[in-house]
Amino acid sequence: MTREAVTVLGLGAMGTALADAFLAAGHPTTVWNRSPARTEALASRGALRADTVAHALAAGRLVVACVLDYAALRELLAGNEEALAGKVLVNLASGSPEQARETAGWAAGCGFEYLDGAIMITPPGIGKPESMLLYSGSPEAFERHRGTLAALGDPLDLGPDAGLACLYDTALLGLMWSSLSGWLHGTALVGADGVPASTFTPVANRWLSGAVTGFLTRYAPQADAGDYPGDDASLNVHLAAMEHLLHASRARGIDTALPELFQRHAEQAIAAGHGADSYARLIEELTR
Ligand SMILES: NC(=O)c1ccc[n+]([C@@H]2O[C@H](COP(=O)([O-])OP(=O)(O)OC[C@H]3O[C@@H](n4cnc5c(N)ncnc54)[C@H](OP(=O)(O)O)[C@@H]3O)[C@@H](O)[C@H]2O)c1
Repeated sequence: MTREAVTVLGLGAMGTALADAFLAAGHPTTVWNRSPARTEALASRGALRADTVAHALAAGRLVVACVLDYAALRELLAGNEEALAGKVLVNLASGSPEQARETAGWAAGCGFEYLDGAIMITPPGIGKPESMLLYSGSPEAFERHRGTLAALGDPLDLGPDAGLACLYDTALLGLMWSSLSGWLHGTALVGADGVPASTFTPVANRWLSGAVTGFLTRYAPQADAGDYPGDDASLNVHLAAMEHLLHASRARGIDTALPELFQRHAEQAIAAGHGADSYARLIEELTR
């Protein structure tokens, strides 16, 4: 079966992994990079090298770009707008929702379809079916090219608003940093009493993947409804436990900035009369 031809623009760590995944799935893959030397290794693995952006765009209908940022993308495509007419541009560079929406508007004005994407994995995860890539923008383009994009990992469609992939990306990265910093805080705490990180971490992972994800699922409808029955654990109970975390941290000389943030939000909500509510009530401390 003949696979769809793909063009990959940008061959940094991520772009190279993307091109390799398309090659591994049997797609004729044309590559271009600002510094041409980066095309050599891919050419030895079967990629077709394009000397110019225009030649790269002429190679197929689906164009996947993964350069540093949106400014770099617009710079490299400047003057090539006509060559993009009738094609689909999939931009996998990280950026803001506003930049994604602005780029979608530019694409519509130039007569080509646009998909914005967010890669929720590092390069070694590209090509694995369990890896998640988020897409938003043209629904027709997503449906038409879903099978080809699946070569990179599991493609999730977030709908026609091109800004949503970037918005989810930033929200999910924030969740990742919060989780990692929470884990590091816990690791420092138990480490002060001689427990190695590798001993603490399997327990932490079990806590996160079992109980904590369950709390998220339980609290999501509360956040949507703006109604936070504290019938599992009230903010009053949480605040008392936060004070134990602060005490244990201070006693071991561990930084308290993170638990102080939790404590401040809980104290504010309780002072406003919401002590009997669930933890989900704290979303209102973040949005007011
Ligand atoms: N690495 C990851 O784990 C990861 C994960 C998710 C998302 N991303 C996103 O993927 C994008 C690429 O990341 P990366 O890790 O591949 O970065 P990288 O290894 O630093 O590569 C950057 C790429 O951008 C190109 N570039 C930079 N400025 C350019 C310009 N003005 N014109 C044309 N090309 C330009 C570089 O070309 P030269 O080779 O000529 O310098 C190179 O191909 C970023 O937006 C990043 O946030 C990366």
